Amino acid sequence: MDSVVLSLGGSVLVRDEDNSLYLRDLAKMLVDASSATRIFVVTGGGRIARFYIREGRALGVPESYLDEMGIEVTRLNARLLIAALGEHANHIPPKDYKGAVLAAKHSKIVVMGGVSPGITTDAVASMLAERVGASRLVNATSVDAVYTTDPVADPTARKISNMSHAELLEIVSGTPSKAGPNVVFDATGASVLARANIPLSVVDGRDVQNVRAAIEGDAFEGTLIE
Ligand code: UTP
Repeated sequence: MDSVVLSLGGSVLVRDEDNSLYLRDLAKMLVDASSATRIFVVTGGGRIARFYIREGRALGVPESYLDEMGIEVTRLNARLLIAALGEHANHIPPKDYKGAVLAAKHSKIVVMGGVSPGITTDAVASMLAERVGASRLVNATSVDAVYTTDPVADPTARKISNMSHAELLEIVSGTPSKAGPNVVFDATGASVLARANIPLSVVDGRDVQNVRAAIEGDAFEGTLIE
């Protein structure tokens, strides 16, 4: 059975407004898709992680401690998705790649958060994809594609539908290595995917059917990097 890794942005998973409907839809889609594909989900920390990182930084604690606070939040978010998936997923987020591989022996959907300081969940998802020999990694995020420049800051930014790993690396290289960066995909993750030659699909995580199409390798709205 093919494996696919889904990197689910914390900003997609946790919203201000009532979110349980989205979580139910997402969980149902994942359960349906898991009949044909083993799915590993790595959840991000989103604004809750950024809150702790900002407050901790203001208090002067070391960056690696901030990273550890971020990791705790990603694991808490993993538990939220696990709650929506019920018996279809592992019970507790594994703390490392080995734990994820073992959890996959019992569950067709495995949900986890971060692993170690100094990286983000995009890098975790990429290394997990390499470890399990995933056919693709789907980055479900709060933007609908990769753009030539930051679309919020630059009105001339253009959407890119297809690109190579080398082109993605060019866009994301030079990203700050401090806790809590906010970029479309992290540079460490992009280089892991390039070396393992694993395709990356960037999709709007709120569009559940589009995420499903990307997971299943069908045509989708967003950016395909291969
Ligand atoms: P995220 O992966 O959510 O980072 O982890 P992000 O870039 O802020 O992602 P978005 O905006 O949700 O997509 C949150 C923070 O947790 C720490 C890092 O500080 C990261 O910025 N973290 C996470 C780690 O140090 N190691 C990990 O394995 C995962």
